[in-house]
Amino acid sequence: MTDRIYGEFARYYDLLGWNRFAQFSAERLKNFVAFRGQGKETVLDLACGTGELEYRLKRTKMRFTGIDISWKMLTEARRKNKNVKFIHGDMTNVRLNQKFDIVVCFFDSVNHLSGITAIKRLFKTARMHLNKGGFFIFDMLTPEGLERWEAIDIRREKDYYVTINGHYDQDKIKAEVTIEGFVKSGRSTYQRFNQVVAECSFTLDKVAEALTIAGFDDISVTSFNNDEPIEETSRWFFVVR
Ligand SMILES: C[S@@+](CC[C@H](N)C(=O)[O-])C[C@H]1O[C@@H](n2cnc3c(N)ncnc32)[C@H](O)[C@@H]1O
Repeated sequence: MTDRIYGEFARYYDLLGWNRFAQFSAERLKNFVAFRGQGKETVLDLACGTGELEYRLKRTKMRFTGIDISWKMLTEARRKNKNVKFIHGDMTNVRLNQKFDIVVCFFDSVNHLSGITAIKRLFKTARMHLNKGGFFIFDMLTPEGLERWEAIDIRREKDYYVTINGHYDQDKIKAEVTIEGFVKSGRSTYQRFNQVVAECSFTLDKVAEALTIAGFDDISVTSFNNDEPIEETSRWFFVVR
């Protein structure tokens, strides 16, 4: 079966350094659990991608279940994590017969959804899979963050050459980026890939309203690096329950 998004690109996701965000998320989650939990939490990772979070935290006592809509991302995740359960599914409507201590959704995965209706469904899914008192932790690009996609970036490394061409639509608060590249596959051969990623964002009020509708009444939001006012930051970091 082919993937609409993160198809062929899945093979190059880690190579191109897109797994770095998950490495950072892993540190955050580890610190969060060390501070607030017991260390043995069960964690549902919505939009788990290549399973980098699970890979980075494999020596902890946390137990993960990963969900992703891309078969190819799941193939990478399974290759890296032999003992983790990865399930193919849509995070806006997946229903597992299980609840978790923590649900996470990292690296703009919330922004990947088509609009506020899908985001509301995601929040409901997260809520339904939480044990009583459990936390839903996620990040989200703000409208300001998406605006920064209006740019062209060209990268040439030893093993690959990539262009990233982004556009931002201010009226719709939507952005689209085309990632096109050539990755070295032999002595003098290169494999071409092409990936389009579309993302949307909303005002903080609208996100908070969607969370409240889903049943979260304890909402904490900071700028991602804790160093900017939330009104100006490019990425929000939410911890809700
Ligand atoms: C930028 S990647 C983030 C992956 C991972 N969380 C990380 O931190 O590296 C976005 C992921 O969202 C997944 N995704 C997008 N829409 C989804 C949906 N409706 N349900 C499940 N996964 C989805 C994609 O397949 C992709 O793996």
